Amino acid sequence: AKAMKKTISVFLLVILTVSSCYGLDPCCAQPCQNKGICVSKGSDSYECDCTRTGYYGENCTTPELSTRIKSFLKPSPNAVHHFLTHYKWIWNIINNISFLRDAIMRYVLTSRSDLIDSPPTYNSDYGYKNWEAYSNLSYYTRALPPLPTHCPGQTPALPEAKQVVEKVLLRRRFIPDPQGSSLMFAFFAQHFTHQFFKSDFKRGAAFTRSLGHGVDLSHIYGENLEKQHKLRLFKDGKMKYQVVDGEVYPPLVKDVQVDMHYPPHAPEEHRFAVGHEAFGLVPGLMMYATLWLREHNRVCDVMKQEHPDWDDERIFQTTRLILIGETIKIVIEDYVQHLSGYHFKLKFDPELLFNQRFQYQNRIAAEFNTLYHWHPLMPDTFHIQHQAYSYPQFLFNNSIVTEHGIGNLVDSFTKQTAGRISGGWNLPPAVQGMAAKVLEHSRQMRYQSLNAYRKRFNLRPYTSFEDLTGDKVLAAEMEKLYGDIESVELYSGLLVEKPRPNAVFGETMVEMGAPFSLKGLMGNPICSPEYWMPSTFGGKVGFDIVNSASLKNLVCLNVNGPCPVASFKVPDVNFPIFANVNSSSEPSAHSTINPTVLLKERASEL
Ligand code: HEM
Ligand SMILES: *[C@@H]1O[C@H](CO)[C@@H](O)[C@H](O)[C@H]1NC(C)=O
Ligand SMILES: *[C@@H]1O[C@H](CO)[C@@H](O)[C@H](O)[C@H]1NC(C)=O
Ligand SMILES: *[C@@H]1O[C@H](CO)[C@@H](O)[C@H](O)[C@H]1NC(C)=O
Ligand SMILES: *[C@@H]1O[C@H](CO)[C@@H](O)[C@H](O)[C@H]1NC(C)=O
Ligand SMILES: *[C@@H]1O[C@H](CO)[C@@H](O)[C@H](O)[C@H]1NC(C)=O
Repeated sequence: AKAMKKTISVFLLVILTVSSCYGLDPCCAQPCQNKGICVSKGSDSYECDCTRTGYYGENCTTPELSTRIKSFLKPSPNAVHHFLTHYKWIWNIINNISFLRDAIMRYVLTSRSDLIDSPPTYNSDYGYKNWEAYSNLSYYTRALPPLPTHCPGQTPALPEAKQVVEKVLLRRRFIPDPQGSSLMFAFFAQHFTHQFFKSDFKRGAAFTRSLGHGVDLSHIYGENLEKQHKLRLFKDGKMKYQVVDGEVYPPLVKDVQVDMHYPPHAPEEHRFAVGHEAFGLVPGLMMYATLWLREHNRVCDVMKQEHPDWDDERIFQTTRLILIGETIKIVIEDYVQHLSGYHFKLKFDPELLFNQRFQYQNRIAAEFNTLYHWHPLMPDTFHIQHQAYSYPQFLFNNSIVTEHGIGNLVDSFTKQTAGRISGGWNLPPAVQGMAAKVLEHSRQMRYQSLNAYRKRFNLRPYTSFEDLTGDKVLAAEMEKLYGDIESVELYSGLLVEKPRPNAVFGETMVEMGAPFSLKGLMGNPICSPEYWMPSTFGGKVGFDIVNSASLKNLVCLNVNGPCPVASFKVPDVNFPIFANVNSSSEPSAHSTINPTVLLKERASEL
């Protein structure tokens, strides 16, 4: 009888488990609105936690009075964007009035970073707050929790990733970025972000190997102490280097024994070793790696001069902090300034946040990584001096770096226009496999829909495919793939979204990307009141290096001979703005190029 009882209770347990797995979780319907949090109570009831959402009611749908007033007064993101990118004469005045400029910059920083949970909350395995999700740094965090598992009808039948790439993402014909971004910009983006986007695909796309979760310059110094030590000279704070044709370059793998990813055919004398193992992939990355290596050793000389008594370790550590400061300065005042298209002059000044409620910490989100896959920036061929390189000639070819030299690379990359990112049909065929993987990874991580992310970042959900793309043909292709606008995924949605007028991308990319970006930059410890002072950077001289950093200085102070023009925007050209895009044409045959093999190597290494 006892055994019988046991069998029955096990049986009941199974039934209960099965039924609760299949559709009886009331939170599956996502009833809580306006960022309210759903907590299930058994299989037939739930509670919405509306705390500090500004709404109340069973589903957090009734706005409080203050919310009503705020949303009435609040201009739309597109209106704000329009104002910031027009009326140049007004901005010329505002930019000159320091208290106004400071107030606006403070508003930009706080309004953006308020959208980021800090301390971080969810990750791809946990849709509720808990200590493991908070403390395990190997995970990327999440802006939105993953879709709950076992929710019937929650994951609509999504189109095959490869189909999405071919139908709406793949380039037909190169579309230049109407903002005139240069390849100098594109490679900066790739170089800068790879210090914190470093997925640990051995564990899965939800995991990262860059535990610094921000601007730690691990791509220059290595992600762990062992690698850093192999790259350091241990003399006067400097990094190891070699001299080729009278110029300084990174050391060779064979000399420093650092693990780097090169294909078998890469000759030994061109296997350079730097902080990020994948930077041999593209000469543009190696160019920036070389510039920063030279900058590090240059600043070490300055520090040595200032502090003859300091040992190697102190010079190295202080120089690293100076380079972190320089990076943030360049990213805000050159890179984001260019990208934003604002006439308002952005300012890197940590003091703006000293009297604000702001957490000096950061955790990289998986969604930030996903949205930063800006591969449409890449052209069809790379023009350097009088040479044109195809992808197979360009990739993993460091001979290009030493052959042309850093000055010529800067000059050529500044002159070549990058591709437009949003608007669809501009992904270079060389990276189409990568794009399909991004979609597959997003599904594995159970991302919520594009519209869910739009709501998360205070944007109105799109109501139709044409609303999303602004283009009938592209909308029709998207509709054939997804059927329902509510099913559109984040990554494909971002890449087909209608760009803002004459802009590189649309509303969602900016309104989602900017909060992650500014929070990551200003959340750095060097921006905190405890750190942000001259002594942290070796005194006034070091602090001045940080505060005068610019792309131009980075280049001019580190190339031999005359200083080339270095700019994130291609200088003085009239851009042929996509008048010649033929929506109905099929992808052009780039089949002669087959870099897939090389890229597979890269991907498997990651
Ligand atoms: C010729 C140039 C480029 C090539 C061949 C290339 C190739 C790749 C490949 C193969 C991956 C691995 C993807 C995977 O397996 O899931 C990757 C990741 C990525 N790429 Fe690129 N890429 C290029 C340029 C760029 C540029 C200009 C950006 C600009 C921001 C960029 C941003 C990223 C990001 C954010 C990741 C994710 C990194 C990670 O999660 O570890 N890439 N790329
Ligand atoms: C809350 O949402 C549920 C499920 O979507 C719905 O049945 C219910 O009527 C809503 N309650 C109110 C007060 O709107
Ligand atoms: C105002 O700004 C312009 C450039 O933006 C500059 O040339 C001028 O000197 C500034 N005027 C004042 C009063 O600061
Ligand atoms: C983080 O989580 C992963 C997956 O559960 C686990 O393998 C890893 O050991 C955890 N890391 C730490 C430091 O606990
Ligand atoms: C690498 O670049 C050099 C120019 O520096 C070129 O001569 C060579 O053919 C390229 N290598 C490959 C494999 O295409
Ligand atoms: C666009 O492509 C279609 C189909 O390939 C072709 O019939 C049409 O003439 C093209 N239009 C232009 C302006 O090139």
